[in-house]
Amino acid sequence: MQISVIGAGYVGCVTGICLAEIGHNVILVDKDPRKLETILSGKSPVFECGLDNLLIKNHQRIRTTGNIQKAVCETELTIVCVGTPQNEDGSTDLQFVKNVAASIGKAMESDNRFRTIIIKSTVLPGTTENIIVPILERESGKRAGEDFDIGMNPEFLKEGCAVEDFFHTDRIVVGAQNQKTRTVLDNLYRQLNAPIFYTSIKNAEMIKYVSNAFLATKISFANEIGNMCKAAGIDTDEVFSGVGMDTRISPHFFRSGIGFGGSCFPKDVNALIHFAELQGVDPRLLRATIATNDTQPLKMITLLKKHLDINRKKIGVLGLAFKPGTDDIRESRAFPIIRQLLQEGAEVLAYDPLAMVSFSAIIPGIQYISSAQDVVNTGTVLIVTEWEEFEHLDYHSALVIDGRRIRKAQKEAVIYEGICW
Ligand SMILES: NC(=O)c1ccc[n+]([C@@H]2O[C@H](COP(=O)([O-])OP(=O)(O)OC[C@H]3O[C@@H](n4cnc5c(N)ncnc54)[C@H](O)[C@@H]3O)[C@@H](O)[C@H]2O)c1
Repeated sequence: MQISVIGAGYVGCVTGICLAEIGHNVILVDKDPRKLETILSGKSPVFECGLDNLLIKNHQRIRTTGNIQKAVCETELTIVCVGTPQNEDGSTDLQFVKNVAASIGKAMESDNRFRTIIIKSTVLPGTTENIIVPILERESGKRAGEDFDIGMNPEFLKEGCAVEDFFHTDRIVVGAQNQKTRTVLDNLYRQLNAPIFYTSIKNAEMIKYVSNAFLATKISFANEIGNMCKAAGIDTDEVFSGVGMDTRISPHFFRSGIGFGGSCFPKDVNALIHFAELQGVDPRLLRATIATNDTQPLKMITLLKKHLDINRKKIGVLGLAFKPGTDDIRESRAFPIIRQLLQEGAEVLAYDPLAMVSFSAIIPGIQYISSAQDVVNTGTVLIVTEWEEFEHLDYHSALVIDGRRIRKAQKEAVIYEGICW
């Protein structure tokens, strides 16, 4: 198929490049010319294991442009992957989605080929039909379901293993108004042999939020229980292993730590809270999920202060990305931890294999060190991201507060405290 993917960020790059790998011709569109140049040079603008190799392997099937209208006119299927960040009140900022919808509509005005538009960006229930479709119809002078089709195909990738997730997904959710759209998406994903769940557009939008809200709640629940276990001298990990064996519960995403970050869980839970309030429902459980997640990273500093007065002390931080395997720092737990350390007068030295440049653009006032071992050698270290390489450092002379279970640190450190263990 001829496909245009609008927005070459984490979702757009993974989707576009992986669709090329299964034989489709893809035009990646972004308004940021630097991202397009990076793609042209054979590198993905976002780090995901295996993505660069797929980009190079499939370069003949991948083109780039900054011109949405041109890309739409040259393709039969357009997939919208632009960001949907959070407004201050928790609602979703739809400016990128609306701008893109207007451009797609304009492209359709001058071109009579029948095409399908798929929304992959995470948007609240009702957004596609009540906000995006009217823009497309207004700008194109055409009717959804008659002159073009619209569908919703939420994305469930996990950053850090997004390529693997694309090819081995648990399910593909397709929200569509008619059989024609379902058939287009069947053809799009046929090679993957993945189960496809067909539903309405509104339900597909809701499925994405409920999935993320459930996983986020499971993590906050694990953290609350983890805090309880540590205080009572109970082995948190053994408890979760025993509980997770129950298939109704499952061991996945069921571990205590310093909480969830990233571009999705915090904003999607907040958006669902906002949505619930609009429906007149009081989302107490979701609010508690966020509240637990906000306080959990700061527990690192409470534990550290049991052993040390941190004012004017050098404190090392290992890991800045919100999780290993990605350079993404959005909502990383490193932010509240480092801000609190600085507020309490500490001098912070930090290391991350991928995220130091982007992190330093937001927090410039700390020392970024190119060697993880040098950070450990400061004598006091907080482990914030579980990069595998942190299992190969020498912790013998360090006081370690561990948010992520680095076993070597647990074995070797002079003083060791796990966040919930
Ligand atoms: N990152 C994830 O793990 C993930 C997972 C599932 C769903 N999602 C959802 O997918 C969507 C995209 O997320 P992301 O992380 O890829 O965002 P991102 O910020 O990494 O990428 C969005 C891209 O869209 C581009 N863009 C914005 N406006 C544009 C325009 N008018 N024309 C062309 N390009 C434009 C931006 O330049 C950027 O490169 C969001 O709704 C997000 O909630 C993200």
